[in-house]
Amino acid sequence: MKHLYIHIPFCHRRCSYCDFNSYANVDDRIDAYVTALCAELAMLATSVIPTPPVSTEAAALRPTIFFGGGTPTMLTLDQIERILVAASQIVPLADAEISCEANPGTLLAPDYLRGLCQLGVNRLSLGVQSLHNPTLRILGRIHNAEEAQQSYLQARAAGFESINLDFIFGLPGQTLEDWEQTLAAITVWQPDHLALYSLILEEQTPLYAQVTAGRVRLPDDDRSATMYEMALEHLAANGYLQYEISNFARTSAAGPLPSHACQHNLAYWLNSDYLAAGAGAYGHITTPHDRHRYANRLTIDGYLAALAAAQRPVAEIIPLTPADLCAETMMMGLRLNMGVGAAHFAARCGMALATVYGGEIANLVALGLLEQDAERVWLTPRGRMIGNQVFQHFL
Ligand SMILES: C[S@@+](CC[C@H](N)C(=O)[O-])C[C@H]1O[C@@H](n2cnc3c(N)ncnc32)[C@H](O)[C@@H]1O
Ligand code: SF4
Repeated sequence: MKHLYIHIPFCHRRCSYCDFNSYANVDDRIDAYVTALCAELAMLATSVIPTPPVSTEAAALRPTIFFGGGTPTMLTLDQIERILVAASQIVPLADAEISCEANPGTLLAPDYLRGLCQLGVNRLSLGVQSLHNPTLRILGRIHNAEEAQQSYLQARAAGFESINLDFIFGLPGQTLEDWEQTLAAITVWQPDHLALYSLILEEQTPLYAQVTAGRVRLPDDDRSATMYEMALEHLAANGYLQYEISNFARTSAAGPLPSHACQHNLAYWLNSDYLAAGAGAYGHITTPHDRHRYANRLTIDGYLAALAAAQRPVAEIIPLTPADLCAETMMMGLRLNMGVGAAHFAARCGMALATVYGGEIANLVALGLLEQDAERVWLTPRGRMIGNQVFQHFL
C-alpha cells in the first residue's frame, strides 16, 4: 500500500471548536497505545491487499505516511521511531513524504525537531489557527502567537523539507482587519504550505454551546466569504498557488500542482486507496471484488482492548458501490483547482466520465459553476465558493 494514515488521539487540552477524535489528560495511556498501534500495523502489513487500479496522476504520487491527531508531537522520539519501524513494513520509507501534525504549544524543542527530521519526518504541519492572542484564548489554544512563531522558526532551523501552517477564519470576534494582519504576517514567515479552513461550528463542542447561548459571536457567512476572498488575493500576490479549496503552496515548478503540495492529501483528493491505523481512523480499500471503507474503534479503551485480544480494531466496514466510487471521485477531485481528469475518472471508476455524469456536468457548466475542456472538468471561482452545493449534484 502506498499511503498510510496514523492517528494519535492525544492532546494536552481540547480546543473549544474541535471535534477530532482526541483525548486530554490520558497521557499515561500513550505508551500502551503506541504498542497497540505497532501491533495493528503488523497485522495490516500481513493482510493481502491486491494493487488497486490507479490513474497516471495517482501513480505519480510519492508514498506517504501521515501522523495526524490529536497531537502526534506529544509522543517521544522513541515512540515515533517504533511506529515508523512498524509502518515501514507497509509503506516503503525511501522517497516517502512523512508528515507529522504538531501543536506549537507543545513547545517544540530544537533537539526534538532535529530528532524528528533524523527519523525521516520531512513535512511538519503546525496548527497555528490565529495570530490574535485574545482569539487564541477564546479557542482554548495552549500557545500564543509569539510561541507559534518561535516553534515555526525552530522547525525551519531543524531542516524540514516542507512546513505547513494551519489557520482558521470566521473565528469568534474576528474582524476583517484581524484577518488582514494575520495574512500579512503569514506571508512574511514564508511557510512552504498553508491550509486555511473556514470555521466549522461542530455541534458537540464547547464553542457551539457558547455561540448558541449568545455568549460568543461569529462573523456571518458574507464576512467569512470576504475573508476567503481576501486570502485568495493576498496569497496569489505573494507567490502561493492555490491547488485545493483550502490549500495553498509555494512552487518552483510550472504546472497545476505546486512542488510543495501535500502528497498525502492529494491521495485523498484523487480518491486513492489508503490504509489507516489508530483509534477512530478510516481506511479505504478497493479491489475488483471488494470496495469498502473501514472505521476503527473510536475510544482508546476499545482500541486497546481489541489489540490486547490480538484482533484488528475495526468497528465498522462500510461497503462502497460503484456509484459511491464515482460520486466520491468527483466530490474529492473537484476540490482540486485542476479538477477531475476524464482519464483519471475512467481509470479509477472503470466508466467514462461523460457516460456517468455528462448531464450533471452540462447543467453545472450552464450555471457557471463548472468549466470543462476535452480532458478535464473543474470548479469555477464561483463554484469553489459554494463547493458543497455543487458536490451534491454528484450524489
Ligand atoms: C488535528 S488538528 C492539527 C494539529 C494539532 N492538533 C493542532 O491543533 O495544533 C487539524 C486541523 O484541523 C483544523 N480544525 C480543527 N477543527 C476545526 C473546525 N471546527 N473548523 C475548522 N478547522 C478545524 C485546525 O486548523 C487544525 O489545525
Ligand atoms: S485542534 Fe488540535 S490541539 Fe486542539 S483539540 Fe483538536 S486536535 Fe487537539
